[in-house]
Amino acid sequence: MDRIPLEDNVEDVVGKVLRGRKLKPEDVASRAGVELPKLKALLAGEFDEATARAVAPVLDLGADALVALGQRSWYPADPGEIDGLACFNTPYGDMFVNAFLAWDPATKEAAAFDTGSDCAPALALARERGLNVTHVFLTHTHPDHIADLAALTAGTGAPAYVSHLEPTGDARAVKEGDVWRLGALTVRAIATSGHTKGGTTFFVTGLARPLAAVGDAMFAGSMGGGNVSYEDALRNNVEKLLALPDETLILPGHGPVASIGEQKQHNPFFTAASRN
Ligand SMILES: [Fe+2]
Repeated sequence: MDRIPLEDNVEDVVGKVLRGRKLKPEDVASRAGVELPKLKALLAGEFDEATARAVAPVLDLGADALVALGQRSWYPADPGEIDGLACFNTPYGDMFVNAFLAWDPATKEAAAFDTGSDCAPALALARERGLNVTHVFLTHTHPDHIADLAALTAGTGAPAYVSHLEPTGDARAVKEGDVWRLGALTVRAIATSGHTKGGTTFFVTGLARPLAAVGDAMFAGSMGGGNVSYEDALRNNVEKLLALPDETLILPGHGPVASIGEQKQHNPFFTAASRN
């Protein structure tokens, strides 16, 4: 798989906790016993290990994982090719967004997860492999994830599916626990709200490894901003996604794929001393 950069840096992670918990840098600096200018420098992208280690426990972040992020010493292991999975990383403004196809290699029944900014590469691969895309699952309705929805549903003839809490166009409503079968694949909806109110993870079994199309609920080494509720986002991640088998590959909306096992060891949001 392509080695696309991690989505978030230390300043992104620390900023997400401050915004999510409505913490003031002044208070965090004083509780961590660091000078405010040092915390401000960290937030401006100047990594410094001592400051990161001091603020981590105050923010309920894992210090070692935060430092590894700052030192760029961790990157998820390459899972290699998975028969029945393809990843698409397309530019959207000044960022990149992911979309995925998963299919039963025997029956060629396929599902798309989000659209990317341009679904042409996914449509081309489906054509090349003779796939029959029967479902377009949407993790949430932020514009970067559904940017090419009209072309994807028109190009595949497949209906879209989205949380009942985030209706869009004529997409069919999804609730937690809904299950679909596509050949040997089983897809199950897990509600992972917090980044958005209807954020949904689609958990796929039937390939060499379980897959979880998480949207922006979780990134390799980070998580999406808790725009609706930081506490819900964190709790859903911990209680629902980290409970999936360790070998599960998360397919995030941004950044590289990673396993649930790796998230438990290397994601600063899940490795705080208080959690162990
Ligand atoms: Fe998003």
